[in-house]
Amino acid sequence: MARVAVVTGGTRGIGHAISIALKNKGCRVAANYAGNDAAARQFQAETGIPIYKWDVGDFAACQEGVTRITRDLGPIDVLVNNAGITRDGMLHRMTKDNWDAVIRTNLDSVFNMTRLVIDGMRSRSFGRIVNISSINGRKGQMGQANYSAAKAGLLGFTKAVAQENAAKGITVNVIAPGYIATEMVQAVPKDVLETKILPLIPVGRLGTAEEIARCVTFLAADEAGFITGACLDANGGQYMA
Ligand code: CAA
Repeated sequence: MARVAVVTGGTRGIGHAISIALKNKGCRVAANYAGNDAAARQFQAETGIPIYKWDVGDFAACQEGVTRITRDLGPIDVLVNNAGITRDGMLHRMTKDNWDAVIRTNLDSVFNMTRLVIDGMRSRSFGRIVNISSINGRKGQMGQANYSAAKAGLLGFTKAVAQENAAKGITVNVIAPGYIATEMVQAVPKDVLETKILPLIPVGRLGTAEEIARCVTFLAADEAGFITGACLDANGGQYMA
């Protein structure tokens, strides 16, 4: 039986590549998205992957989304918590709204989605949960107190939930991508990207979304059952923990 996989933020950026890679591995994929209808429709037309619109920061909306996907595709075996936003700014200029928005979308969402699929995974004794953190959750990043805090939160969450569910056939892992060529990174001021960030990447370039998707398919595979609570860094050598 094909595994059913849900990718949050699965129609754009890294999530776009993850959805396609999981489909190519034989999963029945559902791609969640929150806002950009045009991009989502284009993604669906190009890939044939069904799209589901809801805000992952909203627990009740997640409940509805999970129910719809389960009804359409079957019980969820693989959850990729990928949805994320940035609201960069120095802490001394950061608004409460920009703090709250990032924590809600990048961290609360992971509780919401994981909480809603974990009972089913436990009862079926199988599950693969892959959380997408960031190099900036590992090392901290100026201008990203909100994002670094949320992404570091995923590291602790992953390890706790991995321990709780290890005996139930469920693995929980986290990937920490470095700077990947997506719209999110293109939003960094060009001079900052070129003078402060690129020179710090030993591989000498931004990563690709497909390179992160490959990490996800590795961890989401049935054969990856002995890897849990791990953090896979994919950052071109920029940060070696
Ligand atoms: N590393 C080192 N120095 C940096 C820097 C960085 N990443 N970003 C900014 N600076 C420096 C600037 O060059 C500038 O130095 P000078 O005064 O010597 O010129 C100083 O810090 C102040 O920067 P700004 O003039 O840009 O000040 P600002 O208040 O307008 O903006 C900022 C500050 C919000 C940090 C902005 O520069 C910025 O957005 N930087 C990028 C932050 C970043 O790396 N975000 C990652 C987004 S991608 C992502 O999040 C995906 C992922 O997981 C990796």
